[in-house]
Amino acid sequence: MNDEKLKIKIILGSTRESRMSDKFGQWIADELNKHQKVEVEILDLRSYDLPFYDEAKINEKVREFQSKVKEADGFVIIAPEYNHGPTAVLKNALDWCYEEWNYKPIAFVGYGSAGASRSIEQLRLNVIELRMIPIRNAVHILGNRYYAFRDGKLDFKELVEENLNKAHEMIHELLWLTKVMKDARQSKN
Ligand SMILES: Cc1cc2nc3c(=O)[nH]c(=O)nc-3n(C[C@H](O)[C@H](O)[C@H](O)COP(=O)(O)O)c2cc1C
Repeated sequence: MNDEKLKIKIILGSTRESRMSDKFGQWIADELNKHQKVEVEILDLRSYDLPFYDEAKINEKVREFQSKVKEADGFVIIAPEYNHGPTAVLKNALDWCYEEWNYKPIAFVGYGSAGASRSIEQLRLNVIELRMIPIRNAVHILGNRYYAFRDGKLDFKELVEENLNKAHEMIHELLWLTKVMKDARQSKN
């Protein structure tokens, strides 16, 4: 059995100027950091500025992103929903790696009218093709509460407090499967 810390990367699924994914990403990072045997890093797609996928356009930033994905043991995607699907910037980031994602668990946090459930369902199908292990427990922050926060009528602290149990259930399942798969990857032939 492997006793190294589990490396969990949180990927922010949006990059627009007034995005909200950074707030939810920091919340999940804070919750994950309460676990001693976990090393957390937020991957902000703004920092990588990945070109639209074209292997001919690989550059240093793409390589840096690929190496971050490679060193990870598990992931949380902060997933907004744009037009009932995932954001293009996130799908593009998924396409830039393959083996780096393989056999690693992935969890989702969504927000929007239906808690980004349509976006997350599509992402679950996408990541199976990347040989990942999407976990069932997720956080879906629904529109009645999310838009109240976005419109300044509800504190962020209160919003996440309401979703804390869901976040803990998701983290519990993610960390267990991340440990299982880290050991399993080492014995894979
Ligand atoms: C292009 C676009 C499309 C959107 N489509 C949806 C949608 O299909 N479902 C939904 O619940 N919210 C939708 N929204 C509203 C988003 O839930 C809301 O803007 C959210 O804050 C987006 O995440 P972000 O702030 O991290 O970019 C859309 C927003 C944008 C900018």
